Amino acid sequence: MEKLDDKTIRMLITAAIHARKMSYSPYSHYQVGAALLSGDGQVITGCNIENAAYTPTNCAERTAFFKAVSEGYKDFRAIAIVGSPEGDVLTQYAYPCGVCRQVMMEFCKPSDFQIIVAKSEDDYLVKTLQELLPEGFGPDNLNSYNNFTER
Ligand code: THU
Repeated sequence: MEKLDDKTIRMLITAAIHARKMSYSPYSHYQVGAALLSGDGQVITGCNIENAAYTPTNCAERTAFFKAVSEGYKDFRAIAIVGSPEGDVLTQYAYPCGVCRQVMMEFCKPSDFQIIVAKSEDDYLVKTLQELLPEGFGPDNLNSYNNFTER
């Protein structure tokens, strides 16, 4: 796994903080922003988008992934996530929900993909998808020729 340098991590956190300002969260008042880094260095952002019917709500991470995939990206290195109750102060490390981890599993190599949870550009933690979704079910499970040497 190629670890991200501090400058790239800070840039992603800044992008996630900016994306969080677009959060549409009139029901939970919990705002999330995400910034996804593609293999070729592009940054694709997303925010959470809630719905009056509640279940159609989309998390910030999935907004970023679905935007990216719909624009032709399928190779990803990392995602920065910032989430906290409404307001400019980030009070917690917001780890991705289970559904978002599963979406990451679809497109990312668990041992390589890096998930950055941040309270600021100076205060963050980095985990791999492998750490957050151990023994995950993914595309390889449906490939009968795969012997799982990749994981
Ligand atoms: N949310 C995210 O955007 N990402 C997560 O990983 C967890 C939850 C959003 C969904 C909802 O709009 C709000 O946070 C409260 O659950």
